[in-house]
Amino acid sequence: MDRYAVFGNPIGHSKSPFIHQQFALQTAEPISYEAILAPVEGFADSWQHFINAGGKGANVTMPFKEQAFALAQVRSEGALQAGAVNTLYFNDAGQIVGDNTDGVGLLHDLQRLGVVLAEAKVLIIGAGGATRGIVGPLLKAGVGQIVIANRTQAKAEAIAANFNAKVSAAALTDIPMLPYQFVINATSSGLTGQRPEFDSVHLAHCQLAYDMLYGASPTAFLIWCQQQGVQNTADGLGMLVGQAAAAFALFRGKQPDLAPVLAQLKAQLA
Ligand code: ATR
Repeated sequence: MDRYAVFGNPIGHSKSPFIHQQFALQTAEPISYEAILAPVEGFADSWQHFINAGGKGANVTMPFKEQAFALAQVRSEGALQAGAVNTLYFNDAGQIVGDNTDGVGLLHDLQRLGVVLAEAKVLIIGAGGATRGIVGPLLKAGVGQIVIANRTQAKAEAIAANFNAKVSAAALTDIPMLPYQFVINATSSGLTGQRPEFDSVHLAHCQLAYDMLYGASPTAFLIWCQQQGVQNTADGLGMLVGQAAAAFALFRGKQPDLAPVLAQLKAQLA
């Protein structure tokens, strides 16, 4: 049985073991998947220990995505764009490959939600690691324009500078007037029950408001969007399952089905 794990600190509440175990059942892949608490400064040692004990690959969550990036010997385009790695595995040459499946996870989830991204105008709120991971995949999916709006404008500009002219940056107080079809909250504001403050006029054409965070109840951002008349809202639980599915495909070469696992997780949260 091949051994996989997720590394984090804290890691106790990680849903990754459950999700990967469900994928393994679905695809009849003989794997085990566990959660490993690594010391904050000790990710590389924990990983090495795991590999010495037969580990084949891993997912990496807070606060180790940058340390995993540093440890990888080969980095995917997604990892390079994000500056962070959430999936480590070995290629045929025995090198450690670092990938980032967060953006692909979001795309999987948007596909599940029936979103048409081609030529869409997308407003991303926030300019931290979450934003860095999704801009490249959204561009690849064919969106027409991305505005990254952040409380601290310079951070949005630093991300936009890595991409083509379809991506621009703004302050939250000075968002360009465009008919945004999709508005994505990539800030961490929901962790403290808050939402990013910006003018609701930018929601006027919004077909779907998406919060990359998730919880038992809707985030403050999604509640506000609903109050402003946005018909469709979704939280990041589907993205969590989507990034796991993309990682599983890298580990095992099989693409699992997201929907049944997402339904199980929703039932657990309710
Ligand atoms: P990470 O890299 O882990 O995603 P981060 O770099 O701290 O975390 O980014 C968090 C993002 O959420 C930032 O864009 C932050 O805005 P600032 O860059 O101005 O700090 C944003 N954020 C957090 N709380 C917010 C709030 N209450 N309103 C608006 N933006 C908020």
